[in-house]
Amino acid sequence: MTLEFNPDFPSMDDLRNKAKSRIPKFAFEYLDGGCNEDVNLHRNTSELREVQLKPRYLRDFNGASMKTKILGMKYDAPFGIAPVGLQGLMWPNSPEILAKAAFQHNIPFVLSTVTTTSIERASELTEGRAWFQLYHPTENSLRDDIIKRAAAAECPVLVILCDVPTFGFRPRDIRNGLAMPPKMSIKNIFQVLGRPHWAFNTLKYGQPNFETLRPYMPKGLDLKQLGKFMDQTFSGRLNEEKIKPIRDMWKGKLVLKGVASEADTEEAIRLGLDGIIVSNHGGRQLDAGESTIKPLKTIASAYGEKIEVMMDSGLRSGPDVARAMACGAKFAFMGRSFMYGTAALGKKGGDHTISILKTQLQQVMEQLCCERVTDLPQHLI
Ligand SMILES: Cc1cc2nc3c(=O)[nH]c(=O)nc-3n(C[C@H](O)[C@H](O)[C@H](O)COP(=O)(O)O)c2cc1C
Repeated sequence: MTLEFNPDFPSMDDLRNKAKSRIPKFAFEYLDGGCNEDVNLHRNTSELREVQLKPRYLRDFNGASMKTKILGMKYDAPFGIAPVGLQGLMWPNSPEILAKAAFQHNIPFVLSTVTTTSIERASELTEGRAWFQLYHPTENSLRDDIIKRAAAAECPVLVILCDVPTFGFRPRDIRNGLAMPPKMSIKNIFQVLGRPHWAFNTLKYGQPNFETLRPYMPKGLDLKQLGKFMDQTFSGRLNEEKIKPIRDMWKGKLVLKGVASEADTEEAIRLGLDGIIVSNHGGRQLDAGESTIKPLKTIASAYGEKIEVMMDSGLRSGPDVARAMACGAKFAFMGRSFMYGTAALGKKGGDHTISILKTQLQQVMEQLCCERVTDLPQHLI
């Protein structure tokens, strides 16, 4: 096994610990937390880790390849970077660091509507390979304008989101008064003073802003007005009436993220979506909800031939990617893991995190004697 990353941080736990010591508490808690009592957050990981795989040592083995095809595109590994909002708050310039690393490793980077780099910049950094995740605007004119920009930027995939019909209840963010730009209460100022690397880089790259939304935002909003603007501008609730015009307008691949039931999968197929991401938003929305690995198995076996089934929530390693694929996912995404990477290691964090995951997944496949990622379901116990 050749190690192509900094050996001081060989796991997501190492990156998470380092991230915790490098960024202000309000930013770390926004990244790390789930919702309510964090039950769904922990359930995602613990139930995923119950999945066990069986090796086939005596089988002919000609080497493992992680190369994968999803939505008609070829990638070097079966995982990608999930959309995460406010990335520049957690580590300055994170979306650009991650977009570049994803491009270099030939894996997908998904840009969130509410992150701190614009659609156009993400597309430039990835030579038109970044996917775009759209939060649903209340006004059709804004929806159409953003979709036109994503098309002009040649994003191959538009991801729409069904699992944020309402804001998640996140006690830490409430306590921290989390806002964008960060609210500088006395408590938060002390947290920033204790994190000089973060403060220095924030000064260097400037205050993070919602770059994709900048053209639509009135100038000089104070914090309260900004919250109101976001509330009025987006309505997360999706239904047939909202999906149909998007399907008609968007000529690229269309993916529904946040699916947690067979009924919603059937709707997605009926409405002509190309793929779904079985996801519960990393346990940030419904604390009483299921882990994603549970519905994944049923959904993938019942509908995997009709629609491309992907998954996220709770994955932290190469073995976790193998587990998800063994249970029927064609592709996996991770959110927090990549942000732990940039928060811990700055510019090197994207490349480092992708390299760990690739090395770990390669090792799992070699250990199982599994040549292709599409063969992983044969190893499920
Ligand atoms: C801090 C944070 C912000 C997020 N923001 C978004 C977002 O703007 N849009 C979106 O579709 N999903 C968002 N998500 C959800 C991720 O895309 C993904 O579903 C989730 O992180 C997967 O779980 P994991 O973090 O356990 O890998 C966010 C997740 C986190 C942790």
